[in-house]
Amino acid sequence: MSEGTKVVPRLDTDRLLDDPRTRIIVCCGSGGVGKTTTAAALGLRAAERGRHVVVLTVDPARRLAQSMGLSSLDNTPRPVPLSDDAAAGGTLHAMMLDMKRTFDEIVEAHADPDRAGQILANPFYQSLSSSFAGTQEYMAMEKLGQLRRTEQWDLIVVDTPPSRSALDFLDAPQRLSRFLDGRLIKLLTAPTRAGGRAYLKVVNAGFGMITGIVTKVIGAQVLRDVQTFVSAFDTMFGGFRERAEDTYRLLQTPGTAFLVVATPEPDALREASYFVERLSEDRMPLAGLILNRVHRSPAARLSAARSLAAAEALLPAAGTGESPHSGNGGGAAPADASKYPLAVAALRLHAERMQLIAVERRLAQRFTAAHPGVPVARVAAQPEDVHDLAALRVIGEALSHD
Ligand SMILES: Nc1ncnc2c1ncn2[C@@H]1O[C@H](COP(=O)(O)OP(=O)(O)O)[C@@H](O)[C@H]1O
Ligand SMILES: [Mg+2]
Repeated sequence: MSEGTKVVPRLDTDRLLDDPRTRIIVCCGSGGVGKTTTAAALGLRAAERGRHVVVLTVDPARRLAQSMGLSSLDNTPRPVPLSDDAAAGGTLHAMMLDMKRTFDEIVEAHADPDRAGQILANPFYQSLSSSFAGTQEYMAMEKLGQLRRTEQWDLIVVDTPPSRSALDFLDAPQRLSRFLDGRLIKLLTAPTRAGGRAYLKVVNAGFGMITGIVTKVIGAQVLRDVQTFVSAFDTMFGGFRERAEDTYRLLQTPGTAFLVVATPEPDALREASYFVERLSEDRMPLAGLILNRVHRSPAARLSAARSLAAAEALLPAAGTGESPHSGNGGGAAPADASKYPLAVAALRLHAERMQLIAVERRLAQRFTAAHPGVPVARVAAQPEDVHDLAALRVIGEALSHD
């Protein structure tokens, strides 16, 4: 079998979107590959095909956010007006994830107002909620769980944060658990668990020995912050972890479809490979790979080599000043000039494009060779950034008609 004739299973995105059993779609992949764009495009398409959709975006470009009616980070799904001819009866909501706000909402929902106020004002809480590694990933999970529980939408499309690694999203609940099980937290919370209200007394006794040292090192105020924070937060830890685990399990159910997004570039595809393997280890349902920003040519039958040869032929022959093809009306042109400069430039550009296409195809084939069962959908590179509903529609169309 020659290269390029291997059959790659095609990812049928419309079937996925139309299937009422599909309740959650997670778009993941490394940074900059088109996760946000894909999530928005899929959400729009699903809504225009009749579903009630909410898209949870994380970092939409400002213009894309505006075109979807998202003007502020307020953690509330906002209706996106659909065109009138989309008569299928679907609806689209979109929201931008504000991780600090999501964290705060959890505190407000799970602690009485006094306690909540204390926690929110606590500097340790403030730095934890905005800087704890993986918070954004964790918050995306948390928000997803919340949206799912409302049962207000029949399809939730999730965009994932611009992590260093696509795996961060899956690692978040565990990382949170590790953090909560960490030594410092254990030390601080163990007395509460054992002794309830005797907490502060016990902590003071337990810490008597090391407090002096710790106070010197990190400062009395910080230590007090940590203690206040932990004592106020302790009752919530179980809830946090349980919800993270619930959402993690929800992701494993057949109603979830993971779409790994990648551009046809070595780094993005390597990351996509890791992710595909990880999903299978974690028994998460992978629907397929979306190969985004694939280059195409309107004249794919003209090979790079023939295109270059044709460009060559339009140049004056070196040294003689004569065109090799008299029919082309050669003449005494400068060595690097041609009577047809535009044609030469176009042919060279075409050759470059064809070479790029060949490289992209090889990279895609390497991925498919490593993961033969993974269906693939391709989306052509658009001439411009995707920042309005019309452009999203074009992407949605491309997704379903490879
Ligand atoms: N198929 C495409 N053609 C052209 N531009 C695209 C395409 N897909 C995405 N983009 C652009 O690429 C940039 C990154 O896309 P984005 O969806 O924000 O990536 P991610 O969320 O993975 O970081 C955006 O400016 C977006 O408009
Ligand atoms: Mg993004």
